[in-house]
Amino acid sequence: MRQILVTGGGSGIGRAIARSFAASGGRVTIAGRRMDALEETKGDTDMVCRALDVGDEASVKALFDQPYEVVIANAGAGASGKVRDLSLADWNNVINVNLTGVFLTFREALAQMQTGGRLIAIASTASLQGGSNISAYSASKHGVLGLVRSLAIEVAKSGITCNAVCPGFVDTPMADAAIEGVMAKFDVTREKAAAMITGGNPMKRMIDPAEVVAAVSFLASDGASSVNGHALSVSGGEI
Ligand SMILES: NC(=O)c1ccc[n+]([C@@H]2O[C@H](COP(=O)([O-])OP(=O)(O)OC[C@H]3O[C@@H](n4cnc5c(N)ncnc54)[C@H](OP(=O)(O)O)[C@@H]3O)[C@@H](O)[C@H]2O)c1
Repeated sequence: MRQILVTGGGSGIGRAIARSFAASGGRVTIAGRRMDALEETKGDTDMVCRALDVGDEASVKALFDQPYEVVIANAGAGASGKVRDLSLADWNNVINVNLTGVFLTFREALAQMQTGGRLIAIASTASLQGGSNISAYSASKHGVLGLVRSLAIEVAKSGITCNAVCPGFVDTPMADAAIEGVMAKFDVTREKAAAMITGGNPMKRMIDPAEVVAAVSFLASDGASSVNGHALSVSGGEI
């Protein structure tokens, strides 16, 4: 039975990934800061819930007291604001969670992986393009892609692959928060805000978490053993 780790498994995309791997027979560990959210994801499955702060080195080290064959670095934080308005504290927090968190997760995963494995980062279309008001988030996600592409080369001979999934707007609590931010900023209805948010997706709709799960499942499959250092866009053709 494959040991699978999903960081940020207590909500949104991570919850959908964890439930899918558990339903197909994997031994799934989910990790995050809110144990109640993790327990809700677990439900009546045999998932293991672990406390984790991805930006804290000791916390990440403690999580890797066993090997995992599939490690999905999904935990992340949103942030909006123009560069001129960003505090150093907000910048540091997003870089710490979204970029340093993936670095620590993959580094500790590698220390345990013996005979191959899969490292998968949930990056973003913001890894591939910039945008107004998302400078810190986009910088962190561009960094994730640089990390993934470099690590992919480092592990290429070891049976390990390292890839990124780059979703557009996905229907999760993070996207909800973005919609609420647009509603407040432009004084528009939820429908209008949602339409503004999904306007960059040529399909003009929110992506379902299940569509991200499908991409992750492919990258974790035996059939993807030569897919390495790839950024798989799940964005309706946005980029
Ligand atoms: N939704 C989108 O439109 C979208 C698009 C592209 C990429 N993404 C990426 O997809 C990933 C999942 O996001 P989501 O949309 O599912 O949002 P979400 O529902 O807000 O999930 C984020 C998860 O990350 C965890 N997390 C945050 N900070 C953490 C920390 N310091 N340590 C450990 N866990 C932490 C949260 O759990 P706790 O609060 O319990 O720690 C939460 O479960 C993120 O990397 C996000 O950037 C999302």
